[in-house]
Amino acid sequence: MKILFLVTAYNSLTQRAHIEVTARGHDVSIELAISDKVMAEAVELYQPDLIIAPMLKTAIPENIWQHHLCIIIHPGIKGDRGPSSLDWAIMTNTENWGVTALQATAEMDTGDIWSSQTFQMRQCSKSCLYRAEVTEAAIKVLLETIERFQSRNFVPEPLDYRQEDVKGCLRPYMRQNVRAIDWASESMSNIIRKIRAGDSQPGVLDTIYGEEYYLYGAHEEDSLKGTPGEIIAQRYGAICRAARDGAVWISHLKKRKKENQSFVKLPAALVLGEHLKNIPELPLPLYVSSTDRTYKEIWYQEKNNVGYLHFDFYNGAMSTDQCHRLRDAFLDVCNRDTKVIVLMGGYDFWSNGIHLNVIEAAENPAEESWRNINAMNDLVYAILTTNTHQVIAALQGNAAAGGVMLALAADIVYCRRGIVLNPHYKQMGLYGSEYWTYSLPKRVGTKKAIELTGNCMPMGTQVAKEIGLIDDFFGENHIIFQKKIELIAEEIAKNPNYENKLTLKIENRLTDEQYKPLEDYRKEELEKMKINFYEPDQSYHTARYNFVYKVTPLKTPLHLAKHRQIGHTLEQCALLPSEESIKIHYLDFEQTCSLAQASEQVEEH
Ligand code: COA
Repeated sequence: MKILFLVTAYNSLTQRAHIEVTARGHDVSIELAISDKVMAEAVELYQPDLIIAPMLKTAIPENIWQHHLCIIIHPGIKGDRGPSSLDWAIMTNTENWGVTALQATAEMDTGDIWSSQTFQMRQCSKSCLYRAEVTEAAIKVLLETIERFQSRNFVPEPLDYRQEDVKGCLRPYMRQNVRAIDWASESMSNIIRKIRAGDSQPGVLDTIYGEEYYLYGAHEEDSLKGTPGEIIAQRYGAICRAARDGAVWISHLKKRKKENQSFVKLPAALVLGEHLKNIPELPLPLYVSSTDRTYKEIWYQEKNNVGYLHFDFYNGAMSTDQCHRLRDAFLDVCNRDTKVIVLMGGYDFWSNGIHLNVIEAAENPAEESWRNINAMNDLVYAILTTNTHQVIAALQGNAAAGGVMLALAADIVYCRRGIVLNPHYKQMGLYGSEYWTYSLPKRVGTKKAIELTGNCMPMGTQVAKEIGLIDDFFGENHIIFQKKIELIAEEIAKNPNYENKLTLKIENRLTDEQYKPLEDYRKEELEKMKINFYEPDQSYHTARYNFVYKVTPLKTPLHLAKHRQIGHTLEQCALLPSEESIKIHYLDFEQTCSLAQASEQVEEH
């Protein structure tokens, strides 16, 4: 079937839907809902059998839904209506929530119901819920809807509030007056809930030291106390604010837009700067209990000869400082008397590479990019050259760009079923580093490495395993995944062949090193990155600016909009705007690869 996705953004849910629907043999094309005109144009050009909106913030124009079946994936239970569904579900402490596939009609969210799923709510931020439970439920309703549509005899259910299972209602857009926090009177749990309901967008508007900021990244604190509202501590960029019955850590702030000047979301301490000069910095030991309620980014647990290193960075973005701290922590745990180290990443994300927001806010973004990529490389190098342990990368959440390459530094890579991987940099106008020119071709071969980094498409766990990018994937949810990881890691640790395997790994690394030293890969990659950061071509700086300020693209990239590819060469479809310089650097890699491939073939014969 030909299925057209109309979407506000090609976000993680849309990417996952794209992967799942394509895997079932359907032909998918995508149009960003930039205007009614382009949506209508897309329909005209593609002539789809079915239109689906996995994530759409605007209405589908009448002239489209009147002539085509359009399905909206709504993040709410049956009967729920309005633009702030998840915000209300979190704010009102709802126990169960859901996702519903609705037919588009004149009135928003009132169309016939094609499928609906429910799930148990978890205590977390809106976007964390979105990337896990909501995404899983959305995929189920979307696939069920397609099957029902194909069966041709399914009759969708009209919305009828008299039905017992229709429990939702129309709720308005959640305004800031509903989100506002009264620090003097509200409890810690209330404050946390309010911040989580608005995280990652739009945030809760609040006043700190006389300025207005949006708050994000809330964490409970049990031990610290102070006058409600007062900032009492800071830790690795987060601030701790006292509440009536405890305290709340806030990891990120965004200054309110002023006189047309926009700001980006940044670590709170970076935003508040000098204001915090008398606020104590309270570092946290690496070895804390996972049940301690406090703010922790990097922590470590140990059991049965296995060490688990967690790094839960907000949005998976890793600044220079975070990379340094993680490398130090990794080297530290390598000194432990264990056999296996499992890199756990975060619940929400594994890693999304260098911290583009912190770079954007730096006085000299090129310099900060350079520092950040070098810090990332130092971390990756430490993992690649570990000769004391077997290292497992356990990806609980999505990974992109350098974040994927970070995982490939481990000896074994496992993913939670259903996560999305974006093993490419080109969209950000970057050649990329993190020793990817070593680890990616080593896993998938040179031809595939060229394809993956060149075509900028997201990848699901099934395909990632098939091509050897990862070793395996499993776990319907995080708990099952974590349990299985534990079992596997313990098996490796107690395998009688453990020492032999470790020796073999060290020997393999030595052989690779003799063939071409890691230092050379790094040098070559960084030469290209230097051009991306410092040369007059602004592809990277422009792409980064657009990304952090969320500038709406002027058109759907050609590699997504199949219906717009006619008349364009394959190369044009794969290329993204203003990417000539990347193309040139990228060709260097292709040439190096084909030389390597040629010599591999000579050796084989
Ligand atoms: N630096 C800073 N912030 C980042 C980030 C990075 N490297 N990668 C993602 N984020 C932030 C986004 O700005 C967004 O923030 P917000 O929700 O607070 O506004 C959040 O993480 C989620 O990203 P979003 O794009 O909305 O989520 P997604 O899951 O739909 O898409 C990606 C995921 C990975 C495809 C997309 O975020 C991406 O392309 N990231 C950049 C990767 C990259 O180029 N890294 C640098 C080179 S190593």
